Amino acid sequence: MKLSLRIWRQKDRNTPGRFVSYEVDGVTPDMSFLEMLDVLNEDLTTRGEEPVAFEHDCREGICGSCGFLIDGVPHGPRRHTTVCQLHMRFFKGGDSLTLEPWRARAFPVVRDLVVDRSAFDRIIQAGGYISAPTGSAPDANAILVPKEAADTAFDAAACIGCGACVASCPNAAAMLFTAAKVAHLNSLPQGQPERDERTLNMVAAMGREVFGTCSNHGECEAVCPKGIPLEFIAALNRDVIRAAFRRRREPLHVIGAAQHPAHEDVCESNSAQKESST
Ligand code: SF4
Ligand code: FES
Repeated sequence: MKLSLRIWRQKDRNTPGRFVSYEVDGVTPDMSFLEMLDVLNEDLTTRGEEPVAFEHDCREGICGSCGFLIDGVPHGPRRHTTVCQLHMRFFKGGDSLTLEPWRARAFPVVRDLVVDRSAFDRIIQAGGYISAPTGSAPDANAILVPKEAADTAFDAAACIGCGACVASCPNAAAMLFTAAKVAHLNSLPQGQPERDERTLNMVAAMGREVFGTCSNHGECEAVCPKGIPLEFIAALNRDVIRAAFRRRREPLHVIGAAQHPAHEDVCESNSAQKESST
């Protein structure tokens, strides 16, 4: 079959981009969407033109590197499907499709359909780990993990960090991603010693990037190829409140949340008031 494509072409992050129209022929229903782009790129290369840059690695829906907007929808029209797992049998000959990169200030365009998602890496670096003593590997069953905790951690760990949640959110918020990464380790016994620190540090790291604020639209859940549910955002909010009350820290600036002084600051200010009134 033959398709018409309007593709965002942008040389680098400092050069303005624009849509360019292409026709791609010889597309078969069993091709994946990325294989269809491979066909287009072969044709462009043969004609001496620059191929369209798009990110990919596993092509199995597990690495999270692929992803762009197809007719305005992150990863395209199929629910719970990454672009690399989207097959051309879901389209028909003569279709016109518009492809563009994630649109979010935190994800600047690197080239064509490729964006820089290193803001996600910085959130992970802030707390997406556990500390464990070195030495020989512990017995597999040395720490018992309740079934419910294992299931929750597994569901959260399904997040592949693709960024579709940010791209779909009208505020370009990264709450679903951060909530999944926090919940993954906070659900497990191994994650408990650093639970509060992890929660606060990862939320603070999210605040330092140029993501927007969550306003409960739910678009993130609707487009997430791994079906990460909004419940993880609710769990993150509970963990933030719990951690903020249990630890004395520098004031935590959580975007969109009321700021509370640390408990000790309140006590100090109360005693100062009492002294000045006596
Ligand atoms: S929460 Fe879903 S949409 Fe967001 S990065 Fe993870 S897998 Fe992608
Ligand atoms: S290429 Fe790995 S998820 Fe699509």
